[in-house]
Amino acid sequence: MDRPDIVKKDISDFTIKPNMDNYDSFCEDFSWDLMKKEIEFFVDGSINAAHIAVDRHVQRLGDKVAFHIIGEDWEKHPTYKDISLLSNKFANVLKKQNIEKGDRVFIFLPRIEEMYISFLGILKTGAIASTLFAAFGPDALLDRLSDSGAKILVTDSSLKERIKDIRNQLPELKKVIVVGDDAGDDIHFWDEMNKASDKFDVEHMDPKDPAYMLYTSGTTGKPKGVVHTHYDIVQQHLTTKWILDLHKDDVYWCTADPGWVTGIVYGILGPLSNGVTSVVDARRFSAEKWYGIINDYKVTVWYTAPTAIRMMMKEGSDITSKYDLSSLRHLASVGEPLNPEAIWWGIDSLGLAFHDNWWQTETGGILIANYASMNVKVGSMGRPFPGVKAAVVDENGVELPVNTEGDLVIMPGWPSMMIGIWNNKEKYDSYFNNGWYYSGDRARMDDEGYFWFVGRADDVINSAGHRVGPFEVESALVEHPAITEAGVIGKPDDMYGEIIKAFISLKKGHEPSDELKQEIKTFIKGKLAGHAYPKEIEFRDNLPKTRSGKIMRRVLKCQEMGLPVGDTSTLED
Ligand code: PRX
Repeated sequence: MDRPDIVKKDISDFTIKPNMDNYDSFCEDFSWDLMKKEIEFFVDGSINAAHIAVDRHVQRLGDKVAFHIIGEDWEKHPTYKDISLLSNKFANVLKKQNIEKGDRVFIFLPRIEEMYISFLGILKTGAIASTLFAAFGPDALLDRLSDSGAKILVTDSSLKERIKDIRNQLPELKKVIVVGDDAGDDIHFWDEMNKASDKFDVEHMDPKDPAYMLYTSGTTGKPKGVVHTHYDIVQQHLTTKWILDLHKDDVYWCTADPGWVTGIVYGILGPLSNGVTSVVDARRFSAEKWYGIINDYKVTVWYTAPTAIRMMMKEGSDITSKYDLSSLRHLASVGEPLNPEAIWWGIDSLGLAFHDNWWQTETGGILIANYASMNVKVGSMGRPFPGVKAAVVDENGVELPVNTEGDLVIMPGWPSMMIGIWNNKEKYDSYFNNGWYYSGDRARMDDEGYFWFVGRADDVINSAGHRVGPFEVESALVEHPAITEAGVIGKPDDMYGEIIKAFISLKKGHEPSDELKQEIKTFIKGKLAGHAYPKEIEFRDNLPKTRSGKIMRRVLKCQEMGLPVGDTSTLED
């Protein structure tokens, strides 16, 4: 069937008027300074993101459910007041352990109530919060906990096992707080919570003080700690309101895990700051369960990712008819290119188009988006948020003519921009050049100012929306006793966007085999995480290298894709 390239919007078709009802006029009148009024600063000009997200709502919305958290055989429905008081208690638990402003406190938990309480409690003390994806293995944990010098880790009795063997390598990790019955010699989460007061004077923070940091991968080196401030909440509040279009009676569902930036910003801070009820699904994915959530909780706004949409599509449209999905009124997607088929599927199966948007761990909030009231050009990421200047530039930072591919850059100055890379000023500085912030993505802009994603400018892999650094995987691979060298690339994949493919050369005495491939896959899953293991492995006698011995991933990728390898003058032989 022929499909139009544009999904037209007419404001008179909306039963609930979008918060941003006209993109152009919102851009004209916009200033970040004016927008600060959406947020309650303390009278002394200081701020605390947890106060803005939760405490300020308690008087008016105290009994409103903040989260419906759905587990395999349990559910919890904490209200705004519950979350406010419990995070106060947790802040007191931390204070008892001498946590001070600026200390790093990490959370390694699944999607349970304690995850949300801890995150907000940490912010209240002025410490820097960070989350670790619950699928991480010991190597991934060690890199992040040691680089950050985390002082306290909050985990549960089963995940605690994964730090057992690395704990002696973490001298700065003073205490572990454990949710669950067998805390052993560590601190029992609920024992301490039950003893703690539910009153806490939140720390008044300078807007530019750090609030949280999240580790993310680049093309070289180990993951980097991207540091964000309390002031980010200005942009997080506003983008949630104008792009995700949350209204007070919405039931909102962000499917991202709080181990990643989307789960923090648009799963916790943004929706709470807007005073809405969110759904959290703590179970393993299944299309039936997901439809069931929309049906049972009458979800109105759904923010998800292309791989998840494709997984729903794979189940076919027969099952959609078994559920009442008519509560949905706005759909958004992030993290990977949103293919046109996914948009058409949304229109056919759910009666709505997914609205793609673009941002990064470093940007702290959405910068480019399709808005509810704006025509969607199918395949485009949309237009910059008001107050944000995005551009496509050449190697000198000069803006390119429309429809020309180049580097996607942003003019620094948006509120939620990272303020640093932990312990790595050089890396932070490398993001900025010619007056621009370089995203590392390639894009083009059309004559109406819509941005179109082209690809990464570097070797970073995007598998199912997870950003994976090839270096991290290669480092883990060469720890395997049979491996001499490894080169890792992202290989295009219809379901996951990209899968991880590893090229491996073996040490003398080891022979390629399917068993060895399987053993290597299991080895990496155990060290890093399920999403970071190479789904495909190819044995090679030699890997292409520069004369200085650096493995040329670019050459591996071209060979894999059957593309011309291009300039090989720096190759070893
Ligand atoms: O390459 C872009 C891709 O995801 C990267 C950012 O990943 P991360 O820091 O993990 O943040 C993910 C959540 C925002 C980007 O550099 N990306 C993000 N959004 C899109 C995208 N690629 C294509 N289309 C998008 N809408």
